Amino acid sequence: MGLTKKTIADVLQTAATGEEVTVSGWVRAFRNQRFIALNDGSTAQSLQIVIEPEKMDEALLKRIGFHACVQATGTLAESPGAGQAVEVHASEIVILGDNPLSEYPLQPKRMTMEFLRENAAFRLRTQTLSSVFRLRHGLGHAIHKYFHENRFYYLHTPIITGSDAEGAGEMFRVTTLDIENPPRTEDGHIDWKKDFFGHPTNLTVSGQLQAETGALSLGRVYTFGPTFRAENSNTPRHLAEFWMIEPEAAFFDLKDDMDLAEDFLKYLIRYALEYYADDLAFLDKRIQQEERNMKKEDRRPMGLLETLEFVIANPFERITYTEAIRLLQNSKPYKKGRFQFPVEWGRDLQAEHERWLVEKKFDRPVIVTDYPKDIKAFYMRLNDDGKTVAAMDVLFPGIGEVIGGSQREERYDTLLQRMEEMNIPKEEMQWYLDLRKFGGAPHAGFGLGFERMVQFVTGMSNIRDVIAFPRYPGHAEF
Ligand code: 4AD
Ligand code: MG
Repeated sequence: MGLTKKTIADVLQTAATGEEVTVSGWVRAFRNQRFIALNDGSTAQSLQIVIEPEKMDEALLKRIGFHACVQATGTLAESPGAGQAVEVHASEIVILGDNPLSEYPLQPKRMTMEFLRENAAFRLRTQTLSSVFRLRHGLGHAIHKYFHENRFYYLHTPIITGSDAEGAGEMFRVTTLDIENPPRTEDGHIDWKKDFFGHPTNLTVSGQLQAETGALSLGRVYTFGPTFRAENSNTPRHLAEFWMIEPEAAFFDLKDDMDLAEDFLKYLIRYALEYYADDLAFLDKRIQQEERNMKKEDRRPMGLLETLEFVIANPFERITYTEAIRLLQNSKPYKKGRFQFPVEWGRDLQAEHERWLVEKKFDRPVIVTDYPKDIKAFYMRLNDDGKTVAAMDVLFPGIGEVIGGSQREERYDTLLQRMEEMNIPKEEMQWYLDLRKFGGAPHAGFGLGFERMVQFVTGMSNIRDVIAFPRYPGHAEF
């Protein structure tokens, strides 16, 4: 049967001229007391509603203002004006929600992203944020579609967990104990046995370890869920609560993992270009306008659409960490002392180094592999050199790391030794070790930061503007 109620997107796509339609939405603009640009969020396009003010009650007319919520009924007709193919000749206007502008925080003019963040309850009504959030949805859909088409099964891994998957200790504790007055053991420590789960728990930093159980039974699985990191990073690329996509596949080695990452990322970009052309065109134009007042060196080397097309068209560069260090040490900024952080084998690459590799050296996405074992997580497969692990990070222009992944250590003894070296508590992780003991297999996977990907596709410069209610140090409003 299908839904009979139509959105503006439905009307624009399927309604015939001459048809009577009813649409509801928020007023983007009201020109000459005659033309309402009505937007209901279903598409970047607003529907033009033409009214005859002479025939309308003056009090009603006054209530049609910026972001007031209006229902319009009328006949769909070809539009003589520029900018739209059709318009609605209204026979009836109903105000569903008045919008007293004197008290409303948003205004019909350019507002900064910072200002909009403080008014997150309304910010999705703006053209920019609504485009971003339609794309966020579209990418989420494409992610499920891609994995479904490639026989990866969606596994829901827990939000509350007892393990620290990354071993980095950046966790938010989950407890029902009275923190003012916790129960104590005889020797004065907090008695976690009395806590809700009978042991310490935290919010997950990654669903990977649990996803590995899925890979070693269903073959290919993925998680897509909220992830929490209590790292004190106040950057345009970090959130304390973000969404991560983590595929995990049996019988995959590092090369298979890289091939999956590249194919997957290109698929997502292609999908966005195909199905969200209107939103992307708007965001592209928005960036061009924003850059008009910037110095040349601050502008992006390519437009948004151009960047997306470029990433699809070219193979990602693949280099080892050791090679990356060598290139960086021979680079101009290194020789002129322009890098803030040292470049030295054994140290992690910093954002400035990643950006040089991607934006200056190769001018395309770069996959860096085989990092030193000491700067990566315990579960990554030890290479034969005994010094590096089968890790891979995918670096994107303007963003830096979008994906972190690896082939997993499938050898019981080697894993046990790595856990001991890195002080990972074995007792709670026996189930993880057992995956190696009983019918183990080579396997690999990665994590894609969803917001970083949405940032890349929409061209938004701050990660806080691609998640509806951003959480970062000092901020958990709404
Ligand atoms: O590199 P990370 O820490 O890898 C893992 O968590 C692995 N367990 C993934 C796996 O192999 N299954 O995180 C993966 C990605 C990063 O590349 C980045 O895109 C994103 O998650 N990410 C963040 N995004 C926003 N805010 C943060 N604080 C992030 N930390 C990581
Ligand atoms: Mg990483």
